[in-house]
Parts: sequence; C-alpha cells; structure tokens
Amino acid sequence: MGATKAAFIGIDVGTTAVKAVLVLEDGSQIAEYQHEYQVLSPRQNWYEQEPETWWEGTKLVLARVVEWIRNRPEKIEIKALSLAGQMHSSVFLDEDDRAIRPAILWNDSRTSSQCNEITDRLGLDGLRDTVGNLVLEGFTAPKILWVLQNEPRNYERIRQIIMPKDYVRFRLTGQIATDPSDASGTVLYDVRRLRWSERMVSELGLDLELLPTVIPSTDIAGMVSCEGSEATLVPEGTPVICGGADNPMGAIGSGVVSPGTMQSSIGTSGTILAPTNVPYIEDTMRLHTFCHCITDTWYLMGTILSAGNSLKWLKSVISPNASYENMVTGAETVALGAESLIFLPYMSGERTPHNDPKARGAFVGLNLSHRPEHLTRAVLEGVCFALRDSVELAESIGVSSESVIAIGSGGQNRFWRRLQSDIFNLPIHVTNRNGGPSYGAAMVAAVGAGFFNNLQEPVDKWLELCDVVEPIP
Ligand code: XUL
Repeated sequence: MGATKAAFIGIDVGTTAVKAVLVLEDGSQIAEYQHEYQVLSPRQNWYEQEPETWWEGTKLVLARVVEWIRNRPEKIEIKALSLAGQMHSSVFLDEDDRAIRPAILWNDSRTSSQCNEITDRLGLDGLRDTVGNLVLEGFTAPKILWVLQNEPRNYERIRQIIMPKDYVRFRLTGQIATDPSDASGTVLYDVRRLRWSERMVSELGLDLELLPTVIPSTDIAGMVSCEGSEATLVPEGTPVICGGADNPMGAIGSGVVSPGTMQSSIGTSGTILAPTNVPYIEDTMRLHTFCHCITDTWYLMGTILSAGNSLKWLKSVISPNASYENMVTGAETVALGAESLIFLPYMSGERTPHNDPKARGAFVGLNLSHRPEHLTRAVLEGVCFALRDSVELAESIGVSSESVIAIGSGGQNRFWRRLQSDIFNLPIHVTNRNGGPSYGAAMVAAVGAGFFNNLQEPVDKWLELCDVVEPIP
C-alpha cells in the first residue's frame, strides 16, 4: 500500500441534478456521481424546487463518493470539499432554519411588477450606483418583494435568505454564509463596495439581518458536522470551503479567471462570461456585472434562459425516447442554416439582451420538407445565435477574447462546439479536465485547504487547453 493521496470534493447543486466529483492532488478527476431531480412548475413560467431535494441528492452522491473511496486499494483522504450552485434561486428560512416555501428559481418570471416597482424607486442611475445591475425577474430582490406582497404570512416568518449551495453547505456544517458571487446575483449587494447595499436593503424595507454574512469563496465556511457526516459519510471535521455561484465556479474549472478570457456555458441556461479586473458596469446594464470567486476580479455575463432546456423541450415533444447524442448526430446531416429554418430560444422569456419575460420561442420558416433533424439543427444554431448577442455586447464595450472555452453539454458535444465556433467566429477550446462548476469547486476546495496559495496555481498546474475548433467564417 502506497502513501495516502489527498483528494478534494466539488459539488454542483444544479437545476436538473446535483453532481459530486472527486479530484486528486494532481488534478485528475477519479470519480463522479450525479443525482437528478425535477423542477416544479406550479404555474406557467413559475419554477420552484424544495431545498430538501438538493440535500437528499447531495447525501446520495457524497455517500457514493465515500463508498467508492472505501473500496479502493490505495488510501485516499478527503482534505476539503466545496460547492457551486444555481445562481439567484432564493431559499427562505424560518427561525428554525427550515425552508418556509419552495425556493423560487433563477428562470422564474413571476416578479415583473416587483422589478418595475424597484426600478421606479431607484431609477436606472440609482441601480447603477448601488448594485450595478438591472433588477430582473430571476434575481432575488424582486422575489423577496413578491413574497411580501403575495404571501405576507410567509414573509413574516423569514429569518434568512440564502442560495442553493449555501443551503446545502448549511446542512453539511450547521453554519450559514454566502460568498460575493452569489451575493451579487441577489441585486442586494454593492458589487463595487463589496458589501450589502444599504440603500437597496432599506428601499425594500428589509432587515439586513435577513442577509447572510459574506465570506470569500476560498475561505473555510465550517466543518462537516456530526449530523452532516452521518448523512453523507464524509468524515466529521472535514473543512467545507465556501464556494460560489455556478457560472464563475465553472469559469474557475475551465481556467477563465483573468481578463482576456471568455467562457461559454450551455447547460439548462446558456451564458457568456468574461472576467474583468474592475467592476465594469456597461451603460445599458444588459450584461450582468457580478463578483468572481477570485479577490479583486469581477465578470460581465450575458444569460439566456433556455439553452439546453430548448433541446430538452424539443426532445420531449418530438422524440422522448431518443438520446441527445442521436438527435445531435441527426442534426449534423442537415445543411448549415437548417435549410432556412430559424429557431428563437426564448421559451421562458429572455434575459440578455432583450430582458423581456414575455418573449417567447418560435420556429420561423417551416416548410414541408423539414424533418425532425432540421428542427434539432435549428435549435442548436438558435441557441448559439442567442449567445452571440452576448459575445457582441461584450465586444462592443471592448471586452473581448481571442478564443472561448466551452463548458456544459454544449461544450462536451463537438458538433455544438463547431456551431459555437462558426457563429461566434472565434476558436472554441475545451480543457483536458472537461471541467464545469463541480471541477471548479474541487479547485476552490484545494485552495481553501491550503494546497495552493491562490486559484491561478491549480489553473496552471491542473488545466490544459485541448481540441480547438477553428471557425469557418
Ligand atoms: C445566471 C443564471 C443561470 C443559473 C443556472 O445568471 O441565472 O445561469 O446560474 O444555474
């Protein structure tokens, strides 16, 4: 038996599943488990999840990782774990730290009137000066106002408002906190002054006490408690590093940590993310300006609400039993442009660049020769064109990159990378680790546990760019 190997666990509390990965100190990912769950939709364009669902899934995937370690001949020691999670999805806890109602997710669009109310009160200049972002339906602040106005009894019981990864961390450790990246996504956080915005908090009549303490993503937020250990099998006392929002944690996992780099992520949502070393607030604020999980680093991001979700919808209506791989392979047989068939992916309203919760999806240009493969190709292309709007917005203010690193299902599939490359007119890379938010969380865990001094070190030591797809203009 050789020496004990140090390992780090990264967890991603996603919209369709929770995933845990186990990464050794040399950066190799040696185990990965995922547990899927449902999104509840009590009304059209309302999206919710019970926080308990995330915790149940996390218990399962962590227990599998630990069992996997126990069955290995070599000794592996978990040095730390960390978490990434869906952004903006708001968890309301009562005085016993129990969820008062299901969490309201990032793609829910019930809060238009609350967004208008907050925007009227502060004005665009006020928003720019306080939180540096528009107030949009999926963000946390308008959801708090929605609960106040529609569920006053629930509102009175609120004692803490946190995000999904914070909830799971709380169940692991018993400690409540958040980090600057998830705090920014609430639009209650002043991204320039790096503290909760007193003006926004007081405009909403909120008590600052409802908002969690904000600590850096790489700080220890607590240790796995006795209850956390019984539930997950992870040893009691294992350090739990704070972690961050899924998009910047994915960017860490793919090495997008400094200005001049850009990430595209196609999962349920789709995002284009570009780090900056100042909080760059674009004039129209159509790109979000949020804190990265790295000190003194921010990022601009464009978000589309239904990227992979558009393909998931298409599969459910035309071929529920097909695999995504077969659908995409079928799309490859169709000519570029899907023979004049255009798809608009605004299936649940849209954020960047339209900021219109009433926008809707469309197939335009259908003719009698179109087959399911044309529909698939049009969806894949439509998602890339929708993301191109964000690439162009960033480029229009001088935030550009010579290439893009792709993550998510759209990054794992080479044909979808080919489409991104042609449509963005930029080379598209992936990394040797094919990392996403969970791999980024393992990197953050390694920094938090003191194996590296900063996040650039694991980026340099663990990641390599590979398999570039060059654009065909
Ligand atoms: C980003 C956003 C989504 C979620 C998905 O602003 O809302 O990308 O983070 O989990």
